[in-house]
Amino acid sequence: MSGELGVLIIGAGRVSRAHAHAVRETPGTRLVAVADIALDRAEALAGEGATAYVDYLQALERSDVQVVMIALPHNLHESVTVRSLRAGKHVFVEKPMADTIEECDRMIDAARLADRLLFVAHTQRYFASTIEAKRILQSGEIGRPIFATDTWYKAFGIETRPPWFLDRAQGGGMWLMNGAHMIDRTCWVLDSDVESVKAWIGSPFHGISADDANIALLRLRNGCHATIVHAGFRRGVDRCEVEVTCTGGMLLFDSYSNRLAVDEAGAYRSRPLTPVHPMSAELQNLVGAIRGEDVLGVTPEWGRHIVDVLLGCEESTRTGREVTIRSRGILGPVGASRH
Ligand SMILES: NC(=O)c1ccc[n+]([C@@H]2O[C@H](COP(=O)([O-])OP(=O)(O)OC[C@H]3O[C@@H](n4cnc5c(N)ncnc54)[C@H](O)[C@@H]3O)[C@@H](O)[C@H]2O)c1
Repeated sequence: MSGELGVLIIGAGRVSRAHAHAVRETPGTRLVAVADIALDRAEALAGEGATAYVDYLQALERSDVQVVMIALPHNLHESVTVRSLRAGKHVFVEKPMADTIEECDRMIDAARLADRLLFVAHTQRYFASTIEAKRILQSGEIGRPIFATDTWYKAFGIETRPPWFLDRAQGGGMWLMNGAHMIDRTCWVLDSDVESVKAWIGSPFHGISADDANIALLRLRNGCHATIVHAGFRRGVDRCEVEVTCTGGMLLFDSYSNRLAVDEAGAYRSRPLTPVHPMSAELQNLVGAIRGEDVLGVTPEWGRHIVDVLLGCEESTRTGREVTIRSRGILGPVGASRH
């Protein structure tokens, strides 16, 4: 498909400014509409150049919309994705893909039936630091990866969180929100999907009906292991990094600080990186795939696998047992093919 692609953003909340920025940075796309049940938010994001809607179904009727970016509470991902695909649009849906495997399956079926692309926005693997970490690990420079520790500590910020985020029934909690990122980036650099999990997910800091702390041990199909440790504390020290221990050395990367370091004589030495706006890279990947010039870095089947792992960890918390992950995930090529 050549020519300009019109973009509709559904959900003008916290993250949506990054989506609008991605549209501005992606050649051949233009923001034409924004929908949010809060009209003031839709109007603020739409600005002068786009039209604001309260009802996203009305916006979907526009023939100049070819791509829909969905940034909604997690329990709305499936219904809005399926409606958008049925309206003939390509979809960029935020992670996690959905709240259940059945929802993921309906989304995948809808994309197949509509013959449209469905991209799940696992943004962390589009950061320069993650891409460079994967390149180094694949090069064999520090030997073969054995395990990774993925650690993300941050303030929960309960006073600024929307109500849906405090309720697991609406897809809320840190695990679905950030666990999705952590599992994806760690699996991607270690180059494997997940075979089984043992986890604890709780809410020790705030006592809410969604989680604010998680620890998971992942056994990967390629023999590597990973720990995922996440906290949304009341007070503490922020950290967001992945450390990979290999047979011939170690590396550490931190997407938000744009940092990648490899061990040298017993200490980490940083390597230079050129920062990229990861959401722009994601949208450019989708647009390239729509035009037949690129392949999707994240397939819907991978998004489904991540949901399976997230839910497997919840099941392990309930049962106290290790849980086998039934789905197989195929890692997309982003980074490997482009850098
Ligand atoms: N990729 C990333 O790095 C990243 C970062 C933050 C959030 N996210 C994801 O983005 C999504 C949104 O998160 P957020 O923090 O922006 O949430 P948010 O609650 O701030 O925003 C959601 C918006 O959706 C609107 N909305 C709710 N129901 C609607 C409906 N039926 N129709 C239209 N609009 C509706 C709300 O009014 C709100 O403005 C989530 O999937 C989250 O995981 C991704």
